[in-house]
Amino acid sequence: VTLPELLEWENIETSLWHLLDKLCVALRKSTPYGLGTWAEREATKVGSAAVMHMMVAASRAISDTASRYPHDFRRLEVELEGLAKVVERGATMESPLDPRVEERDRSPDVLLAMLAERDAVTHSHAKATAVWARRLAAAVGLNAAEESFVGLCGLLHDIGKVSTPEAILSKRGPLTPEEWIVMKDHSAASGRILERVPSLRRCAEVVRAHHEAYDGGGYPDGLSGDDIPFESRIVAVADSFNAMISDRPYRAAILPRDAMRILEEGKGKKWDPRVVGAIHGVFAQRDAIKAQNKPRLVGSA
Ligand SMILES: [Fe+2]
Repeated sequence: VTLPELLEWENIETSLWHLLDKLCVALRKSTPYGLGTWAEREATKVGSAAVMHMMVAASRAISDTASRYPHDFRRLEVELEGLAKVVERGATMESPLDPRVEERDRSPDVLLAMLAERDAVTHSHAKATAVWARRLAAAVGLNAAEESFVGLCGLLHDIGKVSTPEAILSKRGPLTPEEWIVMKDHSAASGRILERVPSLRRCAEVVRAHHEAYDGGGYPDGLSGDDIPFESRIVAVADSFNAMISDRPYRAAILPRDAMRILEEGKGKKWDPRVVGAIHGVFAQRDAIKAQNKPRLVGSA
């Protein structure tokens, strides 16, 4: 759901402008002042699903506008993710005092904090992968709850790297075959860790399979095609795409259009063609919104 689409939905327009207003205040003040209460109140009027759709559309509108300013973009995306959680909690009227909710909400934060202490690069990659995974999930037509779940799996996909030895995790050159065997255990380790957290057990199968390849040439189980969970196939594309467009100590980032060309070349082999196709949709939608927002220039024809 895009902002223009939502705006055609007449009775939601006022709510949407309020949300955009509150998001701008929350971003400026770095605190989600009144956002949860707003979400709870609106959910009683239009339903929690509509509130989450509004949040997705408003976040996209803000991040698409801000993408013109690349220095602040990634931080903004992470902040919007945090605000989306506040809205989701308010819209579903979950009390933060409920110990079960507390556990479910805090577990990913605790695991990510551990990952951040272990390796900052993997931690920031996890957050960015979650953003791309959510975009892809929306582009392939998943609903808000499914999109949120895919984002969570994207966030935690590499959590198993806490067990990868430092000499391998931070190695500046290519890995030896023996080192690759150790490195490749991280996706299974991610699954093993999440299997032990009751509220995240659903993610275990997904993260275990995020390095499976569509043609069966991946790891750890050599799954292929539809035997690979669809969420894993989404995370796989998000993971690879974000890795390619990010700087690493041993190589520079490549341009998004070059990364998309590599994905195209690997579709049906490494990646699910449907998910690779969806990334074009993500960019087409961003371009369309940018074009709509482009100010009219006096000198233009
Ligand atoms: Fe991985």
